[in-house]
Amino acid sequence: MPNACGGAAAPRDEAHLRRHGRASYVGPVPLDLEFVRAQFPAFDRPGNVGQSFFENAGGSFACRQTIDALHRFYTDTKVQPYADYATSKSAGEQMDRSRERWAEALGVASTEVVFGPSTSMNTYVLAAAFGGVLGAGDEVIVTNQDHEANTGAVRRMAEQNTCTMREWRTDPETGLLDIGRLESLLSPRTRLVTVPHASNIVGQENDIARITALAHGVGARVIVDGVSYAPHGFPDVAALDADVYLFSLYKTYSVHQGLMVVRNGLLDELPNQSHFFNASVPDKRLNPAGPDHAQVASAGAVLDYVVATHTHHGGAASDSLRVACERVGAMWREHEDALTPTLLDALRTRSDVRLIGPGSLGAVDGHRCPTIAFSPLTIEPATVQRRLVEHGVQTSYGDFYAVRVLNGVGVDAQRGVVRLSFVHYTTRADIDRAVDALDRVLA
Ligand SMILES: Cc1ncc(COP(=O)(O)O)c(C=O)c1O
Repeated sequence: MPNACGGAAAPRDEAHLRRHGRASYVGPVPLDLEFVRAQFPAFDRPGNVGQSFFENAGGSFACRQTIDALHRFYTDTKVQPYADYATSKSAGEQMDRSRERWAEALGVASTEVVFGPSTSMNTYVLAAAFGGVLGAGDEVIVTNQDHEANTGAVRRMAEQNTCTMREWRTDPETGLLDIGRLESLLSPRTRLVTVPHASNIVGQENDIARITALAHGVGARVIVDGVSYAPHGFPDVAALDADVYLFSLYKTYSVHQGLMVVRNGLLDELPNQSHFFNASVPDKRLNPAGPDHAQVASAGAVLDYVVATHTHHGGAASDSLRVACERVGAMWREHEDALTPTLLDALRTRSDVRLIGPGSLGAVDGHRCPTIAFSPLTIEPATVQRRLVEHGVQTSYGDFYAVRVLNGVGVDAQRGVVRLSFVHYTTRADIDRAVDALDRVLA
């Protein structure tokens, strides 16, 4: 069952277990990191040996299940799918299965799952579709906590359609969004709200279930950018009740595609963006690019990794994908949460850096993801990043396409920030290396 912030906490009651087809309940246990890391071939590649990878919010390593699936598709079934010969049929079946498995994992219907080239492309098409139904007198609420992908195209659409745009702004000190402020911006004329599940700079999870309830209360639709949240646990999208939930598979150990869930009848309400004859095909209406067959077919393989993790840690193979995602997500989170405070403390206690976002896991209402950005005050971010790399910490710096977020907290976006982002396969030794390197680099 999702926690207050829609996170992947352990299921709590029997009814919930039955709904998600759980055979037997085995709670989360400590993550076997040796098993986990053995699923990621990248760790053994020469460029990565002896290094610690802290660029996960940019793009994660792919699990071997993903790599094998792509290789298999290109080797065995790389033809136009859905024709009536065996190789083509198999290609189409793999694509359908991938969609169905993701639907089960996210707790939605397979007709609600749309694959597209990236989240930026998905939001671009989505904004164009909203442009067909919104007009003067309609109000749109955007935030300055979003990555540009989940705000720029919607803002442009709102301007072009002469909608009234209201900006839900972050606190200039903390970078956090206050839900009380959203309540004051909502009105019976609000038609659309866009919001991140977690910012790729601030890290804090927003309470999406509450936000969608408030927005739905005035009849507005809600688009949620889950790109910075999903790598830490695949959410129960139905429970969050977002009308659109987006994330990028290449940041969740999978292929380079965007996954967009469009729910609550919205897919039929929005005008078709594809060829006119595809109007009645759910997964084509919002993907004029056409599907990347191999990547769509391989997109579900990361769920094999989740199931393997679930069963390796004592879970039943007969459990549903949703149950496996919840339990494995809880284990990922427990592991990350054991490491995050060390890194936060190392930055929070320094007077020569400004940590962006909460300085502890639960300092304020909610939970913080381990996407940790900071502004070095006396040394250029570019220099800090270069020196961290020299110490074996693979990271980068810049605005991370979150220019509005940085402007909102008074950080020069051109100068940028350094970002250390990690996930469940990160070890205590990686964290120690980063802390030690920070000490040396900033000294
Ligand atoms: C929070 C967030 N949203 C959206 C995006 C855009 O995703 P994509 O690269 O799939 O277009 C990113 C990419 O870094 C991101 O971090």
